[in-house]
Amino acid sequence: MCGIVGYIGPKNVVPILIGGLKRLEYRGYDSAGVAVLDRGELRTRRAAGKIAMLEAALGADPVVGHIGIGHTRWATHGPPTDRNAHPHLSTDGTIAVVHNGIIENYGTLKTQLAAKGHRFSSDTDTEVLACLIQECYEGSLEDAVVAALRLVEGTYGIAVVSSREPQKIVGARQGSPLLVGVSDGQYFLASDASAILAHTRDVVYLSEGEIAVLTSGGYRLMDIDAAPVRRSVETIAWDLEAIERGGYDHFMLKEIFEQPTTVANTLRGRLRLEEGTSKLGGLNLSHEQLMEIDQVIITACGTSWHSGLIGELMIEDMARIPVEVEYASEFRYRNPIVTDRTLCIVISQSGETADTLAAMREAKRRGARTLGLVNVVGSTIAREDDGGIYLHAGPEIGVASTKAFSSQVVALTLLALKLGRKRNLSVARGREIAQALDALPAQIQTILDAAPAIEAIAAAYQDATNFLYLGRGYNFPAALEGALKLKEISYIHAEGYPAAEMKHGPIALIDEKMPVVFLAPHDAVFDKIVSNIQEVRARGGRTIVITSRDEPVLAGLMDHEIRIPETVDLLSPVLASIPLQLLAYYIAVKRGANVDQPRNLAKSVTVE
Ligand code: M6R
Repeated sequence: MCGIVGYIGPKNVVPILIGGLKRLEYRGYDSAGVAVLDRGELRTRRAAGKIAMLEAALGADPVVGHIGIGHTRWATHGPPTDRNAHPHLSTDGTIAVVHNGIIENYGTLKTQLAAKGHRFSSDTDTEVLACLIQECYEGSLEDAVVAALRLVEGTYGIAVVSSREPQKIVGARQGSPLLVGVSDGQYFLASDASAILAHTRDVVYLSEGEIAVLTSGGYRLMDIDAAPVRRSVETIAWDLEAIERGGYDHFMLKEIFEQPTTVANTLRGRLRLEEGTSKLGGLNLSHEQLMEIDQVIITACGTSWHSGLIGELMIEDMARIPVEVEYASEFRYRNPIVTDRTLCIVISQSGETADTLAAMREAKRRGARTLGLVNVVGSTIAREDDGGIYLHAGPEIGVASTKAFSSQVVALTLLALKLGRKRNLSVARGREIAQALDALPAQIQTILDAAPAIEAIAAAYQDATNFLYLGRGYNFPAALEGALKLKEISYIHAEGYPAAEMKHGPIALIDEKMPVVFLAPHDAVFDKIVSNIQEVRARGGRTIVITSRDEPVLAGLMDHEIRIPETVDLLSPVLASIPLQLLAYYIAVKRGANVDQPRNLAKSVTVE
């Protein structure tokens, strides 16, 4: 949620830190800061607000140097003010720390440190860690960090510098990602590869409990017992262009428009059109193990949870295996029924969501095989699952998830197809679904070509204060997703419901001020949803209807019609979601909202 970047090398560190922080700003953006070793002196500059505020602070009071650390914050302990912004200094001013995560026992540690004379100038848990490292310092910064971390409960990704050893950066990870970037005579530390991609694509990922020590002569990794760790350098597959806006006004819009390509990338090499099945190389499940599965649990959060709901319907329909979909935050704290014949599908764009990761670990602990549907290569979930299907959607920077959602549903379809064809699904039905998948990228493009019409609808509703999204069957989860997109970026209150459920309560909200978005493609429940549209019209509600063909029965029932192409029922939520993403985007922009950095949110939720 917060972002870390560090640099040691021959160049001036400040532009490198600022450039890295700008790339990380999508992860957290309420305050930022840097600490630089300037001729052996530790100097910090911090500012509440966006990185531009930090740049202004540095402009007014510059620092220079070749070693430094920077941070962009998403507040947990204490409001987003200058004094709570990272880096935090130890009481004696010799140690500076930036930190992602939460130190859970910081209250106890703070009391103990205060008794020893430490003084605190922020509300943060991080400042406590800086003081603890000072307290543990006996001549070696890495030893002091290790000693302090042994006393800490909670999660962290940290970077530490000290004026006592001005040629060194120490990093450590436990529950929050960290990597080392390697380039000719320059070394980087970052929570996310995008922070350093302008300088190097060669990275070394730290595993849980590992420490990195960077000097101008190289880097080394060790575990918490100081045993050396060897890890090979990996090369990031994407380049700078993938994390730039490329002429679009916002990352979200770019990512919506990328979907013909990203869906094609998720499918690439995986469809077997003739056999009506899929080939998924990373499952790590033998034929026997696949046949043994007698229960599927899907766990995820937010948008990924919505794609999981679609996956449930697909797997039950195609493979006839019972499926439960669980909010990861709930699953991890209950007593679920899991056996060694349970397949736990873990869905996460970032691969770092704390609740999802914990749910996966819990399912594993109880004997399930885990399968990650993850976008970010090398992320923690991808590294810890038993098998996986990478989404290959490329970096998703906009906080509102769009292209990851379509790729998740496509990946789930590929999986359901495989499970189904191994069991009951006929080759003819398998071929029909495989061909429908193959046709998706071009169909998505036709919807995107009609974006101006959706923008015009957005203009008519930009001042609405409430929205309802109604769908049935495969399109009920898409209704939830449409409502989430609108509320998170426009701050308009929106709810998604199964359309028929409306008359059990939400119908009381319908009046001429209530826009209702119906997801009504021509599918198995089309006739049923028409009745629900009539119920809304009868009460004066405004209707925006997503349909897939000329339907005389809808004449007079639609204030606005949005057309999507026809496909098999189970893929209709992918197509229906595209206009919903555009509708949310255009409404938010017209309301003047910052769609890429909506208030209070962060791209990757790495705290519980
Ligand atoms: O990275 P993940 O897929 O695990 O993230 C899960 C949710 O935090 C995420 O989908 C969130 O709901 C998005 N802001 C939705 O647009």
